[in-house]
Amino acid sequence: MAENLLIAQSAGKAERYEVLLPQIESLIAGEKERIANLANVAAALWQTFNFFWVGFYLVKENELVLGPFQGPVACTRIQWGKGVCGTAWKEARIITVPNVEEFPGHIACNSDSKSEIVVPVFANGMVSAVLDVDSDRINNFDDTDARYLNQLARILERLF
Ligand code: SME
Repeated sequence: MAENLLIAQSAGKAERYEVLLPQIESLIAGEKERIANLANVAAALWQTFNFFWVGFYLVKENELVLGPFQGPVACTRIQWGKGVCGTAWKEARIITVPNVEEFPGHIACNSDSKSEIVVPVFANGMVSAVLDVDSDRINNFDDTDARYLNQLARILERLF
């Protein structure tokens, strides 16, 4: 497919996700290389929503290791159960954090990050990666983000 996205700038959040997800599916459809695909997915989300930081942490042995992302430099490794990402891995569930200062153990890779959502990506019933999205605005993520980012995570399962 062409390496550009078609997203109306006037579209609301749900509508953007609705048109983005099929485009991501076709973007990754013809490519087997996981890192290349995750890099384009991070870029597609960042480009569509202007998020502060979008990226993946990949489960490697017994920790999360930074994968493809868009945004400022970030922590390289996160332990199981630590921070929002490590907790989402441990609990195998989506975690939405309206205000990162109120999440016990939040790992502040960048002080400009104010709210966050972390979505696990499963393979064979195990968490293989987490998708981490940060905003520089408090309370930027809601059920719409959780629903569509979860759909995206299901699309990405085939890469693992
Ligand atoms: N805040 C995350 C760490 C990763 S960065 O936000 C990119 C956490 O608490 O796990």
